[in-house]
Amino acid sequence: EPLERSGVWRFRELLPFAPDDKIVTIGEGQTPLHSSAGVADYIGLKPGNALLQYEGMNPSGSFKDNGMTAAFTHAHMIGAKRAACASTGNTSASLALYCGMSRLMQAVIFIGSGKISYGKLSQALDYGALTVQIAGDFDDAMHRVRQVSKQLGIYLVNSVNPFRLEGQKTIMLRVLESLNWEIPDWIVVPGGNLGNSSSFGKAFHELKQLGLIDRVPRVAIINAAGANTLNALYNELGVRWNGGAPDVSAIDSYYAELDASAKRADTIASAIEINRPVNLMKCLRALECCDGVVREATDQQMLDAKARIAANGLGCEPASAASVAGAKILCEQGVIDPDERVVCVLTGHQLKDPTATVAYHSSDQNEFNRVLGSRGVTTAAFANR
Ligand code: F0G
Repeated sequence: EPLERSGVWRFRELLPFAPDDKIVTIGEGQTPLHSSAGVADYIGLKPGNALLQYEGMNPSGSFKDNGMTAAFTHAHMIGAKRAACASTGNTSASLALYCGMSRLMQAVIFIGSGKISYGKLSQALDYGALTVQIAGDFDDAMHRVRQVSKQLGIYLVNSVNPFRLEGQKTIMLRVLESLNWEIPDWIVVPGGNLGNSSSFGKAFHELKQLGLIDRVPRVAIINAAGANTLNALYNELGVRWNGGAPDVSAIDSYYAELDASAKRADTIASAIEINRPVNLMKCLRALECCDGVVREATDQQMLDAKARIAANGLGCEPASAASVAGAKILCEQGVIDPDERVVCVLTGHQLKDPTATVAYHSSDQNEFNRVLGSRGVTTAAFANR
């Protein structure tokens, strides 16, 4: 694949760590920015003001390819033969695809038991990744993969890897490019491991320092209500980056309480079912840089938003819809003004997680109960579509 056809590497002056002949690209990042009047109406914005950055159109079906091409390239530069990640499904699908296509490395992936949608699991298996199921959830799998990769010298591609974030910066470069470098008022993004939001903050910080833009957009990060560590720390405990001196003891005691309560992340949006985000500190810095806000969206709010996004022609997975659900909440609260221009990032494709979608639209009560029954989700809110 020519470098100029990659939506990541045609910006390589802004991520200058790789010699051209070492870059591993599969044509990632050729993703569109769509304006949707229907989604604007749903959020509460003027018709032209809802813009959707559709990262589901990447080769593996999620935004992860933006970061994976960069981390994978670095792994190749240092001669790695095996690469590993813990994943809720999309990172692993992406890693497995880069391994399969390049034949440069063996993929080793760690997933929580029963915590991955079949669309994503099928990608990893079919592309030939060595797939290890861990008793526990993503946070447990993350803990294990860090130990194992350190012990065995396996290259780790989770977003603790700084090269991942370098690649993901380009999502925002493409947004700005699509807008002819006019700065939107808001970027709204789901928050899981907080890699995306951290990389966006870094992108805007660097562009401003380079004098390529004169102001930065505000950033809104949306947690799932059932996996809301960032929201709790930021809004309930008032934790801030604080110029590089965040209140670490508040964070530590939050996690200590979490451990003591044995409370687990729990949301239908399995992609962001994470209680210990590895990029928390970088994300706090991004929030400071971009005058950020944090909110949480319930499973109901995400699924309602997802159906409305898809009814306007853009299919995404439940976690992705957190962005639109969050924008709607912020509009209702008067934080976002209808006159403002809002970019919502749709992080993963609809086909990643068909189970939740079918259950949501199903008139079969058994199917609905099997997937959504205990979550207090109803489809009634959507009956008058
Ligand atoms: N949206 C989707 C579709 C995701 O797969 C993820 C993360 C996120 C949002 C959250 O992004 O971590 O940058 O805040 N998925 C990871 C995975 C954890 O393993 O695939 P983040």
